[in-house]
Amino acid sequence: MPLRRARLRSRPAAAVLAGGLLTALLVPGAVAAEPAATAPAAVEAAPAARVAPEQAPDIPVANVQAHLARFQSIAAANGGNRAHGRPGYRASLDYVRQQLDAAGFTTRVQQFSTFGSIGYNLVADWPGGDPNQVLMAGAHLDSVSSGPGINDNGTGSAAVLETALAVARAGFQPREHLRFTWWGAEELGLVGSRYYVANLSSADRAAITGYLNFDMIGSPNPGYFVYDDDPQIEKVFKDFYAGLGVPTEIETEGDGRSDHAAFKNAGVPVGGLFTGASRTKSAAQAAKWGGTAGQPFDRCYHSSCDTTSNVNSTALDRNSDALAHAVWTLAE
Ligand code: TRP
Ligand code: CA
Ligand code: ZN
Repeated sequence: MPLRRARLRSRPAAAVLAGGLLTALLVPGAVAAEPAATAPAAVEAAPAARVAPEQAPDIPVANVQAHLARFQSIAAANGGNRAHGRPGYRASLDYVRQQLDAAGFTTRVQQFSTFGSIGYNLVADWPGGDPNQVLMAGAHLDSVSSGPGINDNGTGSAAVLETALAVARAGFQPREHLRFTWWGAEELGLVGSRYYVANLSSADRAAITGYLNFDMIGSPNPGYFVYDDDPQIEKVFKDFYAGLGVPTEIETEGDGRSDHAAFKNAGVPVGGLFTGASRTKSAAQAAKWGGTAGQPFDRCYHSSCDTTSNVNSTALDRNSDALAHAVWTLAE
């Protein structure tokens, strides 16, 4: 699978070479003609030596939704939330970690203390790639205490998880090292991601080529917002959406209000996707994206109704595919 496109590209040149070889072996009289026949083949073989970039797989949205269903049942079994310091947070982390361990990731849990409780970040490294070029993608795994936090931020957590699992299924071995992260205590002031960045050595910080953030990517009345922090990362997401024929806008609903902030402040190029929180969708936005003008992008933001019913599956599917596309494109 990894060399799928490269193999397709090299096939014509290889066929010509094989054909020439067959002719030489089976028809002695044809040997004199071989130089002329093989010359074009040699010219064609040169581009095949360059490995064509591998394309990201389509992320099955049903798999992402299955993770959301699990987050919801975890909340239901733990007092209705997955908040920092509550058992639903730790159960969410254990679920994600178990999936990653089974797929071959190297996982570690980073502990910190805030608001009187222990918080946890989950860090999953995919073995391989250049240790001095690390591409990261992450999402906060905690909910507010008032609800199960399925759009905020089960969606980002589930899409990052399913992308990591897709990396394992594909046996993807890009040039860069891949690291996926799930942050604790975002809802209490971006605490986990700030702790992680503050505790990086300067060499480890310098090795991070980019951090991609996914916080609320399945809002029920969705907009398609792309962070405009780093132009190269922004372009990868915009190109993906241009390919779908779906217009995007720059994310402006509280710039720096999520886990990319600490990375950006430390000088790491950042990017990400967002489908909107409590702001209202305008008539112009409803005209281009559908949905309901005059209503919030997420009317259940930080509420008990942020359940699996509070997710637009088309937005979740597109953004999950965009996430995988960005990981595949930026890591090569
Ligand atoms: N981070 C906020 C939360 O979890 C949601 C949010 C508001 C947001 N504005 C944003 C996320 C802009 C990403 C980008 O509650
Ligand atoms: Ca998909
Ligand atoms: Zn959030």
